[in-house]
Amino acid sequence: MTLNGRRVVLGVSGGIAAYKSCILARRLTESGAAVDVVLTAAATEFVRPLTFEALTRRPVLSSLWERGRALSHVELARDAELIVLAPATANLLARAAQGIADDLLTAILLAAEVPVVAAPGMNDAMFAHPATQANLTTLRERGWLIVGPAVGALAEGPSDRPGRMAEPEAILVQAERLLRAAGSALRDRHVVVTAGPTREQLDPVRVITNPSSGRMGYRLAEAAYARGARVTLIAGPTTLEPPVGPDLVRITSTAELCAALEQSLPQADVLLMAAAPADFRPAERSDAKRPRADGPLTLSLEPTPDVLERTAAARRPGSVVVGFALEVGSGLTRAREKLDQKRLDLVVLNRVDEPGSGFEVDTNRITLITRDGHEESELMTKRAAAEVILDRVERLL
Ligand SMILES: Cc1cc2nc3c(=O)[nH]c(=O)nc-3n(C[C@H](O)[C@H](O)[C@H](O)COP(=O)(O)O)c2cc1C
Repeated sequence: MTLNGRRVVLGVSGGIAAYKSCILARRLTESGAAVDVVLTAAATEFVRPLTFEALTRRPVLSSLWERGRALSHVELARDAELIVLAPATANLLARAAQGIADDLLTAILLAAEVPVVAAPGMNDAMFAHPATQANLTTLRERGWLIVGPAVGALAEGPSDRPGRMAEPEAILVQAERLLRAAGSALRDRHVVVTAGPTREQLDPVRVITNPSSGRMGYRLAEAAYARGARVTLIAGPTTLEPPVGPDLVRITSTAELCAALEQSLPQADVLLMAAAPADFRPAERSDAKRPRADGPLTLSLEPTPDVLERTAAARRPGSVVVGFALEVGSGLTRAREKLDQKRLDLVVLNRVDEPGSGFEVDTNRITLITRDGHEESELMTKRAAAEVILDRVERLL
């Protein structure tokens, strides 16, 4: 519930992508926000107000002239902390750029003094039209954040030009960031997150790796971005969707992870080391695939570079470094040793042998260990765990 009690006006205009705004209304509501949906008259041709009313459990407005709500445009403009326009039609962008206020939504836009996020969605030629482009330039200059449009299929057929509205998830990420950054110590800070396993090649087809999915690191990167940070996510091989917002740097081996970290360290204010790098690699790599018929294979492994130790040694003064410890059994003593030996500010301990925690699941039960003591959490989603970790990082900054 990262947006608990926050007030958002979701303006929906008459584009075919209006159906996707139902998902946006639902996700904003699930995040705890009070969402007031305002539809243009054209939007009500695409989606019925009742759908939004059921999703947000709040009244949905579309007319300036409704009896008993004579000043709703002023009240909604005054109470909102953010206005999200999705989809924003070519017509809505034109009216907003000109300062026209001939319906409830455009009257709110004129009366409000809060940030606006707009997600244009229209035919690709309408989007490319100089009038639309000029309107977008004007609105950007006024401080509007424009999300998308994306390139891809339109209702009328395939397209290789921008026009299609950005996905609700991408709009939600920017809305959350605008709402949360103002109160966060991570705003405009550079956060570097490592995630996933690394892979050490034995021969052209075989690797040494571990079952890390990268989820904890990805959720941390998303949560840090939502708090207004500039985020670099250095990720080993995973099948996860790239997060919206963070810069993604892909690596494979532990040595590549070290090299990528060395590049980012000089600018990093916070380092969240959630990757599970391979600790050993083959002493020799074979260029040929060794056939099974050759009999038993004896491997000689050598330790890989100690990523945490190197990072802590080269960190910027004043930066916060968080290490992750995955232990079998309680592991508290070992995690405390790690905190001291590797000069970390915080160790996040999770247990591989506990149901719902560790590798390949969406949940985690973590223990936060600092020099002042330790604190155990309940079992929660990895995104919620990321928020708990970042709350602590903000206090350490
Ligand atoms: C089936 C249909 C689909 C439309 N889709 C879009 C669209 O995706 N984007 C857009 O800008 N206009 C679209 N239009 C045109 C707008 O509905 C029209 O310009 C309308 O006046 C917009 O009003 P509003 O901006 O007040 O919502 C569509 C019209 C129809 C009939």
